[in-house]
Amino acid sequence: MSQNTNSKETNGAASDRVIIFDTTLRDGEQSPGASMNLQEKLRIAEVLERMGVDVIEAGFAIASKGDFEAINRIARCVTGSTVCSLARAHRKDIDRAAEALEPARRKRIHTFISTSPLHMKYKLQMEPDDVLQTVSESVSYARNLSDDVEWSPEDGSRTEHDFLCRTVEAAIEAGAGTINIPDTVGYAVPDEFARLIAMLFDRVSNIDKAVVSVHCHNDLGLAVANSLAAVSAGARQVECTINGLGERAGNAAMEEIVMALRTRRDVLGCETGIESEHIMKASRLVAAITGFSVQPNKAVVGANAFAHEAGIHQDGMLKHASTYEIMTPESVGLTKSTLVMGKHSGRHAFRRKLLELGYELGDEALNDAFRRLKDLADKKKEIFDEDIMAIVDDEVARGSERVTFVAMQVVCGSGGPHKADVTLDIEGERRSTSATGNGPVDATFNAIKAMVPHEATLPLYQVHAVTQGTDAQAEVTVRLVENGRSVNGQGADTDTLVASARAYVNAVNKLLVKREKTAPAALSA
Ligand code: KIV
Ligand code: ZN
Repeated sequence: MSQNTNSKETNGAASDRVIIFDTTLRDGEQSPGASMNLQEKLRIAEVLERMGVDVIEAGFAIASKGDFEAINRIARCVTGSTVCSLARAHRKDIDRAAEALEPARRKRIHTFISTSPLHMKYKLQMEPDDVLQTVSESVSYARNLSDDVEWSPEDGSRTEHDFLCRTVEAAIEAGAGTINIPDTVGYAVPDEFARLIAMLFDRVSNIDKAVVSVHCHNDLGLAVANSLAAVSAGARQVECTINGLGERAGNAAMEEIVMALRTRRDVLGCETGIESEHIMKASRLVAAITGFSVQPNKAVVGANAFAHEAGIHQDGMLKHASTYEIMTPESVGLTKSTLVMGKHSGRHAFRRKLLELGYELGDEALNDAFRRLKDLADKKKEIFDEDIMAIVDDEVARGSERVTFVAMQVVCGSGGPHKADVTLDIEGERRSTSATGNGPVDATFNAIKAMVPHEATLPLYQVHAVTQGTDAQAEVTVRLVENGRSVNGQGADTDTLVASARAYVNAVNKLLVKREKTAPAALSA
């Protein structure tokens, strides 16, 4: 296999620099149940920009009004990263992408069409020659609207090599600056995928005029391995998502790609522009917003990724950390706290602590979070960084809710009956009601539903302890689905039932916003 390097310089990238293209907001959002609202997408985009992501794929402009708005707002707000929209090979798709990206300082249109025999025959029902012609037409059309165009042959890894070479050559000829080879169905294995990339370098005459990118799905658990193998074969852009979120088994996990390239630079010989210290914050945020929690033994960001339980390992760690640690917890943002927060901490120290954790809040949000910190310090002996992050994420998630949680009392126990008295503020008016249910959570949700009626189902109710100890805060995620529209709500509190009520109310608020977009309706029963 020949070793190539993709020498074209893009975004100031030298030949050993791998461009990180994040598609959490597009492919990641395509995971069933992972839908995000505009504010949530903006928060994620902000974190991605801050961590140094080169290209943010913010959505698929023609897919929905919501996607269009999100791309458009991100294009306005993000200046440090290129903002990208996906578009099929249709003029109206490409026009819509260009329109959404209009305010961006740096924009990219990413257009694609299937090229494998299976997809051309059954999905597109097109002949290969017609597909080839569409590639040239769609790329040059996009190129008239943006200087930066990426082209992808969907199902690229299952495409016949001759045809793949012809389409790649045509796309570059038409002006594509990035050629992205997707392993759409996660079928490839590393050695084979590296050979495919090397084959393109060998056979496509104008390949030096483009950056070669890869986009790997994780159906066989090989997305990261395939991406790294492609980098070894000369690819210089990797498409990935935070926590490996994405269609089916997900996409290549950004944190794994970045830390592998950083930790094994000695063999992989490449680097990224990512400030890896932001990784934990991005991971936590995406998990909280989507309700897709991270498994404890997940590489890089799992709760156990830096935990050493076995005595023999602990002994080695005490003697020298590198005995069992190939990267430091600090390098992914697990900092050893320099500022300890508690009952007597002042607002100024709290602001500094938030900056240390990567949060910049406005005065109002800071005051609200500070008040929550003081309340928490009354209930809990030790305040950990994770507690502070949970409070801030909870406050930010709330935004400007029309319905807010005020108070609750619950009767529960082994014998039942279970009853909840809940008070809400509904657009400035206090309302209270009681309800019963199968357990205290059910009773609480029934009470809220009685005051803010809806037809949604509850496919997800998830509780996560933020730290160790019985006084730990609970972080709750609730997913509601109404008329095919899915929303996730979050809440945090030392009282699991209060956290549950907050999460449910947060989800109900999002449901109201979604509903309102179709038909404004009365809020309460
Ligand atoms: O998986 C895939 O093929 C894609 C393309 C649109 C790049 O997501
Ligand atoms: Zn994909």
